[in-house]
Amino acid sequence: MPAQTSFHEKSFAVIIMAAGKGTRLKSSRAKVLHEIGGKPLLAHVIAAAAPIVPTQDIYVIIGHQAEQVRSAVGQTGVKFIPQAEQRGTGHAIMCARDSVAGYDDILVLSGDVPLIRTETIARLRDFHLTKNAAMTILTAEPAEPFGYGRIIRAAGDQVKAIVEQKALSKTQQKVREINSGIYAFATRALFAHIDRLTADNAHHEFYLTDMAALLVKARGKVVALKAKDPAEVLGANTLAELAGLDAQLRARKCQELMANGVVIYRPDTCMIDPDVEVSADTVIEPFVQIFGRSRIGAGCRIRSFSIISDSQLAENILVRPGCIIDQSQVGAAAILGPYSHLRPGSQIGEASHVGNFVETKKVRLGRGSKANHLTYLGDAEIGVGVNVGAGTITCNYDGTNKHQTIIEDGAFIGSDSTLVAPVRVGKGAYVAAGSSITEDVPKDSLAIGRSRQVVKEAWASRRRDAKSKAEPK
Ligand code: UD1
Ligand code: MG
Repeated sequence: MPAQTSFHEKSFAVIIMAAGKGTRLKSSRAKVLHEIGGKPLLAHVIAAAAPIVPTQDIYVIIGHQAEQVRSAVGQTGVKFIPQAEQRGTGHAIMCARDSVAGYDDILVLSGDVPLIRTETIARLRDFHLTKNAAMTILTAEPAEPFGYGRIIRAAGDQVKAIVEQKALSKTQQKVREINSGIYAFATRALFAHIDRLTADNAHHEFYLTDMAALLVKARGKVVALKAKDPAEVLGANTLAELAGLDAQLRARKCQELMANGVVIYRPDTCMIDPDVEVSADTVIEPFVQIFGRSRIGAGCRIRSFSIISDSQLAENILVRPGCIIDQSQVGAAAILGPYSHLRPGSQIGEASHVGNFVETKKVRLGRGSKANHLTYLGDAEIGVGVNVGAGTITCNYDGTNKHQTIIEDGAFIGSDSTLVAPVRVGKGAYVAAGSSITEDVPKDSLAIGRSRQVVKEAWASRRRDAKSKAEPK
């Protein structure tokens, strides 16, 4: 950004138009609440604008599902302006007049154009100020301009008008340059003329786009700045377009990770949320999903069909296929899966193993401990170097309350044991296979909690003889 002090002395507000229902989505949910990359459309727009002005100078126009919109993004600190009846984009800006009249200039963003980058908004602002324009329109030339308002240019940067799709003449239909729905305005010029907007159009709405021709008529300067990347200004009016934006966003994320040394095979099959962090030399196999605030260290391998949400994985971890890891932490060099399910609050220690069909919840598994097969570990504190045999179950729930199981360092739990909590297995103790442990096991002892085996000699042959005598010849 050029260091032009005079620019920065000017005060800017950002208005984000987000009151519309999004009729073309055919959904009862307000359009700006639909998600791409795991976040509402509006949250992406706010995130792009937040580095440009302090958040208290961001005004969001709300109408459809206003309360849900407020609670979805209220924590960002933006202000809200109600537009009770949605009478068009021009009307949305009229509703903001009292709130923003004191700023020198205004940046207008659309809540349904979520891939916009901060740098592009900054370029628009600087271009607008350099040109000393009344209105500056961010435009683009996408492969398919159908459906967008089109830019009718005069000479050079100057614009004559914006014409909406439905009002395009035959020749105007050939224009490939579209209106992004993102603008900068000189506040005084905007509000001096905004009342001249009429609803004399296909939708009987007040179009903000008509400000271009109105300002030109009033001898204001209206200019266009073309976005370098048309993908940045794509709008979402249908669910299919929304899916397209989601794919763009995720492709962008994979590109960014790969540029930083993360190996991703078949990135087109992976879903990685924008806030996920992955360190270099980690390998992500096809069909992996990583969501929310997950962080994955260096040198890990995440094998196919694993889903990781809001979890932190240290370095050199192997996640075998089909693991589900949710709100959990995994220590360095641990090995998970295939098909392990780490539920919230699982803390898997360094070099530990959690194997096939093992479910964990609110559990701490110490360094080097192993639970490799068919096990449930819930509400448990498990020490270092513990071996949890196949099929072990912590019975943590008595029908009313949850209770803790504690297994101390170096203990050995034989296969198919049930540990009825609250219960403690002491340091170095053994639990015999098939035990039901209802009392604490002292350290270094062996607990056998099953009935003794009885062997009845020759029982089977006697039974066979009896049977053959009874059968008719
Ligand atoms: C708008 C532009 C079009 C441009 C396109 C880019 C107009 C008339 N047309 O069309 O030139 O190519 O965006 O994506 O502006 N909104 C309100 N209050 C309202 C109406 C809309 O807040 O009364 C909000 C919507 O929630 C949405 C944004 O304004 O976030 C744009 O409205 P939308 O109906 O999607 O306009 P488009 O038809 O996409
Ligand atoms: Mg739109």
